Amino acid sequence: MADFYVRTKIYSGKSSLDELNSLHNQKIMLVCDPFLDGSAELEMIKSHFGNDNQVKVFSDVKPNPPLDNIKLGLEIYNQYLPQVMVAVGGGSAIDTAKAIRFFGEKVNNSKLSCFIAIPTTSGTGSEVTNTAVVSDEANNSKFPIMEDYLIPDIAILYPELVMSAPKSVSAFSGLDVLTHAFESLVAQDANLFTDALAEKVISVIFSKLLESYKRPNDYALREEIHQASSAAGIAFNQAGLGIVHSIAHQLGAVFHVPHGLACAMTLPYVIEYNAQDPKCCAKYAQAARKAGLVSGSAGDQVMIRKIVRNIRDLMRAMDCPQSLQQFGVDRKDANEATQRIISDARADGTFPGNPIVPTDQDLEMIYKKVIGN
Ligand SMILES: NC(=O)c1ccc[n+]([C@@H]2O[C@H](COP(=O)([O-])OP(=O)(O)OC[C@H]3O[C@@H](n4cnc5c(N)ncnc54)[C@H](O)[C@@H]3O)[C@@H](O)[C@H]2O)c1
Ligand SMILES: [Fe+2]
Repeated sequence: MADFYVRTKIYSGKSSLDELNSLHNQKIMLVCDPFLDGSAELEMIKSHFGNDNQVKVFSDVKPNPPLDNIKLGLEIYNQYLPQVMVAVGGGSAIDTAKAIRFFGEKVNNSKLSCFIAIPTTSGTGSEVTNTAVVSDEANNSKFPIMEDYLIPDIAILYPELVMSAPKSVSAFSGLDVLTHAFESLVAQDANLFTDALAEKVISVIFSKLLESYKRPNDYALREEIHQASSAAGIAFNQAGLGIVHSIAHQLGAVFHVPHGLACAMTLPYVIEYNAQDPKCCAKYAQAARKAGLVSGSAGDQVMIRKIVRNIRDLMRAMDCPQSLQQFGVDRKDANEATQRIISDARADGTFPGNPIVPTDQDLEMIYKKVIGN
């Protein structure tokens, strides 16, 4: 069966925030990224809520959202019992809001009437997905909560909000988008609809991410990458992800590698690994041809090498470390964590999406490459 749906209404562009004007007589819980706290941008967003609404702000959001912060937000939810939640920020802020909603609705036997996501990074696609990725710091673990009712009702893509992101955040989150596209392209539930999105996103990221990184205030480029991020989210929400994310979640939990960077470090090795399956190899190659990675004809295996080289070149051009060791993780510590990384990756919610079921030896081989020489 090939099912496809988009549950989220997406508004993109300069007037997209006007959509907030339609909220009336609502108790709104606004979960926002700490970089927005006290900012003109946050005031501008709040100015779209009419005076007949009540608004409570929760901004104690941390990257790789820890359960402890989610609990703090949950206390506010429980006292305030919002009817609407608006999440503004990077994937961590949106996921924090989704997790607060997840626990808050359960505890209070309540139901939000609307959940609105306004991303400030072009990366996770969380504004259109059913997932909230949270961290259990006490156990150094990170896991996704996946429920279709967590898919936001409305996503507002307002590219100006992304422009303040530090260069490294733009680079890492852009590489997360590329990873979502490559993983969903070959994932177990991929279909023609998700392939169309994934192929387009691969083309946009390879042709525009570096330009956007170099010219962060270019509105048109930012808007295109921002839309590509949501498009990749729609693709993977339906098609699934794979072992890049299963491993990357562990690199975030154990070594605090930023999510998009952890994905990018792992992606080339997983593409090489999955390409042993002729169908996957052909799909990767076709996407790369459509993205214009080579002119003229080249065989599928040549295209795989070209994809891997392009990912590495892109990372180098954006000053991204390409291995755990380059990131600063001690080789001994990385080696010691091997068995734990492998077993937690296998248990990760994204693992079943991979087109090939890897053995523990396969996972170890990939992880050792990610550690670096
Ligand atoms: N829910 C999903 O479907 C999904 C998918 C992939 C990843 N994730 C998760 O999302 C998280 C990563 O999200 P992310 O990559 O967006 O990073 P992030 O939300 O962790 O943000 C990274 C840093 O950038 C800051 N920041 C964000 N936007 C900014 C802006 N416009 N200007 C200045 N600073 C800004 C944040 O305050 C933070 O310090 C990880 O926990 C990852 O596992 C979720
Ligand atoms: Fe991701």
